[in-house]
Amino acid sequence: MEKKIQNFKDSFNKEIVDFSSWNTLEGIRIRYLGRKGRIADLFKQLSALPPEKRRAPGKSLNELKDYIQSRISQESNRFAVKKEKKLPLDTSLSGIRQHTGKIHPLTKIEDEIKDIFKRMGFAVATGPEVETEYYNFDALNFPKDHPARDMQDTYYISDGVLLRTHTSPVQIRVMESQSPPVRVIIPGRVYRNEAISARSYCLFHQVEGLYVDKGVTFGNLKGTLEAFAQALFGEGVRLRFRPSYFPFTEPSAEVDISCILCQGRGCRVCKRTGWLEILGAGMVDPAVFLAVGYDPEAISGFAFGLGVDRIAMLKLGIDDIRLFFGNDLRFLEQF
Ligand code: PHE
Repeated sequence: MEKKIQNFKDSFNKEIVDFSSWNTLEGIRIRYLGRKGRIADLFKQLSALPPEKRRAPGKSLNELKDYIQSRISQESNRFAVKKEKKLPLDTSLSGIRQHTGKIHPLTKIEDEIKDIFKRMGFAVATGPEVETEYYNFDALNFPKDHPARDMQDTYYISDGVLLRTHTSPVQIRVMESQSPPVRVIIPGRVYRNEAISARSYCLFHQVEGLYVDKGVTFGNLKGTLEAFAQALFGEGVRLRFRPSYFPFTEPSAEVDISCILCQGRGCRVCKRTGWLEILGAGMVDPAVFLAVGYDPEAISGFAFGLGVDRIAMLKLGIDDIRLFFGNDLRFLEQF
């Protein structure tokens, strides 16, 4: 028995001297100290001896067990230190990806539009998205049963209270709160009861413009919009004014830019016309001035309302408006 114990100690010492990795150290530990290991085996053999013969070998066996335990823990400490010291900086490992937030593409374009008008001296105003029929329609000279109301069907909160269909009601709120001159832009979200498709959604964004002073002309409107379009789309862009109708402007126009994709030659996006509609505009109707208590004989003004979503789709090459509202990171991360 004593001889066996000595043999085990010798073989253990040999193994522990030239173990080379964490794995083999763990292997040694299991082989000697495991539940079915060599030490356990020796204890089993020991218990088979008659009691009076167990004492001496029992003592040596316990000593061997303690010895092996302490040697293994010694080696594992040493190995851990060695491993730490040798661990090289692996620059080929990919880093931990940081998900930082981004500005929404619509917000980006809206900011660009705002910056251009701010440079021209326009202030920024805002108004409520839940609006009264009075501000959304009546004060803007929409007669009660006029078909222009049908073109802007919306969601009613209660009788006379609705989700605004355009940013124009804020024209009224601004003029009610100050006297001329007025020079503001009004960015914001608007709502319409639309059949949802790649081109229209139940909510979208506008930037309204309003300039009221003595002697403001249609020429001022054209010059302002041209300067704006060139700042946003580039020097080469041209504007086209088509006669149109809005109850709150007279005369009124729908304004196109030359197609920024084909430079006006005609392509799929501009439906071969060479032009893209981006806004409605006109000279403020005298009835609107009367509604806010301005004197239409003393002052004049122009107003315009442009579609932010439409412009963002053109500038960023997006072919479905619904992508803006899907909250899909695969889309949003591209901008
Ligand atoms: N409010 C109009 C619309 O939403 C656009 C517009 C604004 C037209 C200002 C003229 C003047 O269609």
